[in-house]
Amino acid sequence: MSEPLRIALAGLGTVGAGVIRLVETNAALIARRAGRPIKITAVSARDRSKQRGVDLAPYAWEDDMVIMGERADVDVVVELVGGSDGPALACARTTIEAGKALVTANKAMIAHHGLELARKAEAAHVALKFEAAVAGGIPVIKGLREGAAANEIERVYGILNGTCNFILSAMEDSGRDFADVLAEAQAKGYAEADPAFDIEGIDAAHKLSILAAISFGAEIDFASVETAGIGRILAADIAQAEALGYVIRLIGMADTDSSDGTIRLFQRVQPHLVPFDHPLAHVDGATNAVVAEGNFSGRLLFQGAGAGDGPTASAVVADLIDIARSMENGGEAGPAFSVPVGELEAMAPAPSGNRLGRAYLRFLVADRPGVLAEITAAMRDAGVSIESLIQKGRHDTGGEVLVALVTHEGPESAVSEALRLLEGSPSLTQPPLVMQILGE
Ligand code: NAP
Ligand code: HSE
Repeated sequence: MSEPLRIALAGLGTVGAGVIRLVETNAALIARRAGRPIKITAVSARDRSKQRGVDLAPYAWEDDMVIMGERADVDVVVELVGGSDGPALACARTTIEAGKALVTANKAMIAHHGLELARKAEAAHVALKFEAAVAGGIPVIKGLREGAAANEIERVYGILNGTCNFILSAMEDSGRDFADVLAEAQAKGYAEADPAFDIEGIDAAHKLSILAAISFGAEIDFASVETAGIGRILAADIAQAEALGYVIRLIGMADTDSSDGTIRLFQRVQPHLVPFDHPLAHVDGATNAVVAEGNFSGRLLFQGAGAGDGPTASAVVADLIDIARSMENGGEAGPAFSVPVGELEAMAPAPSGNRLGRAYLRFLVADRPGVLAEITAAMRDAGVSIESLIQKGRHDTGGEVLVALVTHEGPESAVSEALRLLEGSPSLTQPPLVMQILGE
């Protein structure tokens, strides 16, 4: 068997420790599949004395993770620190510039700097791999880049944040509070260092922008992802949705729109109502699922653990095995996205206004005569047709009256116009909440 592939690990937290456990536990199997052993030579983190549940004695400690790629005993650096910039980005740049391959689980960095890093990696003829950055243990990057490579992807969407899915499904099952369930997700190691990234939809938006780039051969455009989180969802919304035949899930969705002759990219992360009979309605806990619709494959569903040490380590080590195999065969790892960076298209963002769909609108209103008439008049004036409407008493909505309605299919611009007409109305005690209903 050939010489080992020598790895440096930058970051020894949830995922870093998981990678050490996996590389040690499955060493023989990995060596057979990679054609050579995978050996960790150096490690780095902030605090050398921290107990991590793994023995670091066999590995050289590097104080400065940024220069790990420059070590003579390292072939690949695995960046598991996190953060779009800072030491993670400095480490990635140094590694590639030193002519070494980079594996990362850092979706924030890829969403913000993926094009620059991919360009550098192509110029240096080294691999840049980030399977673990999207949907944890699910091999969705490989699935889209390789398994579905022959297809035109028409739409890609899914549940991309384990923390939000854990919170929503736990609120649904137990009626517990948002904050209580968030603390549990953090304790389980699912949440980002700043949990606002999870609950405000930013983490899902990072992942969606990566999926969209790969699916549509587009330049990553994280800044154009329309993003809304789950922080305003009430137990009452979950109950109303259920009564109407839906569950609530945070969905990331991307497709292209060429209605005006120019191909534009639509990307949105938003809580959606998902019909009970849709496969995504049964994705619970920290599970992620991605649906990709190919013009020849039809609907592909990728599902599995989206976070946690073991699943994420599985994706990281899969990338290492790929690199070991391709280096073994004297080949290159292929473009980081579906095509070389120079061939990715710069697509302008598609406006949401022309999109057709049904929506759930929830209002918290003062309990006085005429309020319901005011809401329905705004819908009428904006051309929004109401399919159903529920008004709930005060007991579970903090003294306000909850009005929830579902629209018939229509352009999103009409719903926006209705909300504009209601803006500043003293009848509304909070801004309305709008969630799209996931269609077929
Ligand atoms: P984590 O538990 O917070 O670990 C981060 C590690 O980075 C720690 O070992 C920390 O050192 C080290 N670190 C932080 N700042 C540093 C600095 N300035 N210099 C040197 N080392 C530094 O994070 P994680 O959950 O393992 O996540 C790592 C990456 O994987 C992130 O990009 C995350 O988005 C991604 N990811 C995580 C999951 C998951 O389920 N957790 C899933 C998919 C992707 P100390 O330990 O010494 O403090
Ligand atoms: N915080 C992320 C999540 C980790 O909850 O999905 C996996 O990317």
